[in-house]
Amino acid sequence: MPKSVYKGKIDPDIDMTGKTVIVTGANTGLGLIAAIDLAKRGARTIMACRNLEKGKQALDEVNEKSKSSNVTLMELDLSSLESVRKFASSFLEKESRLDVLMNNAGVCMCPYTKSVDGFEMQFATNHLGHFLLTNLLLDILKRSAPSRVVTVSSLSHRIGGKVHWNDVNLTNNYTPAKGYGQSKLMNVLFSRELAKRMRGTGVTTYSLHPGAVKTDMQRHLGNIPDPNCSDRMWGCFGGCIRPFFKDPETGAVTQLYCAIAPELENETGRYYSDCRVATESSDGRNDEYAERLWTMSEKLVGLSK
Ligand SMILES: NC(=O)c1ccc[n+]([C@@H]2O[C@H](COP(=O)([O-])OP(=O)(O)OC[C@H]3O[C@@H](n4cnc5c(N)ncnc54)[C@H](OP(=O)(O)O)[C@@H]3O)[C@@H](O)[C@H]2O)c1
Repeated sequence: MPKSVYKGKIDPDIDMTGKTVIVTGANTGLGLIAAIDLAKRGARTIMACRNLEKGKQALDEVNEKSKSSNVTLMELDLSSLESVRKFASSFLEKESRLDVLMNNAGVCMCPYTKSVDGFEMQFATNHLGHFLLTNLLLDILKRSAPSRVVTVSSLSHRIGGKVHWNDVNLTNNYTPAKGYGQSKLMNVLFSRELAKRMRGTGVTTYSLHPGAVKTDMQRHLGNIPDPNCSDRMWGCFGGCIRPFFKDPETGAVTQLYCAIAPELENETGRYYSDCRVATESSDGRNDEYAERLWTMSEKLVGLSK
């Protein structure tokens, strides 16, 4: 067990005063716990949430539990490229540094839906939105180095996670788990390629699996309408074993570890679980896929032609 992790908690003495962090999807679940922890450590904490009403309630909770007055709520809908661009330009207008970008928000096993930009919803939210956001914030991350990009993936990237290169929007034979597994594999590949591109800049990057955690993430699990869908069984199974999942406080430890543990300062591009380096799927270690995904994503979000 690394030194800074003690009985499921990160060393409370790691001070983040003077640092600025963004946590996406900070209004509930793992993001909310991470925001409370980072604010308690003195970080200027930006809670990036799509629903400002829910966000305001969460902001009150973060303020109360962290006793910090340095927490801000900003609107960000990762499934909309326009919203991501608006968020980034408003952040860059107001803030002078960025030490940690925590790409935490996610949607899991939703019914087939398309984003406003026409992408499959899990691909749009979990990968493309965070891809664009990170790219728009790379200059400020470099100026603030040493800085970190932490991307919350999932063990699901190993369970049938494949990038469907010829049908990335999964228009044929969509299943919710196929969409989730693909998007979470993309998180691992994105982090790997980002590490390669950021070498020598002081920006380091980590992807991780938080464990099976009792959060709102399971909201779609019992709700797979197609009786022939193979994921239905997994949904029911997941619902049954949910009481045995980790609580969010324990679940958020690995992403916090990746965000602040001093011993990770010189590591980059790896995948973590339980505060240790873990093994990605073989596709998750494929550098050719990582580069291909980056190039494809640049085109899709309009960063290149
Ligand atoms: N819980 C687990 O067992 C588990 C396991 C492996 C990996 N993970 C990963 O952990 C991360 C956090 O999940 P969680 O368990 O904390 O789930 P959660 O409680 O459902 O929280 C997800 C967060 O993402 C936000 N979000 C969803 N779509 C968004 C969008 N388009 N734009 C901006 N924010 C959006 C949600 O906002 P709303 O409240 O407005 O929907 C919520 O704040 C996810 O990336 C997930 O894939 C979780």
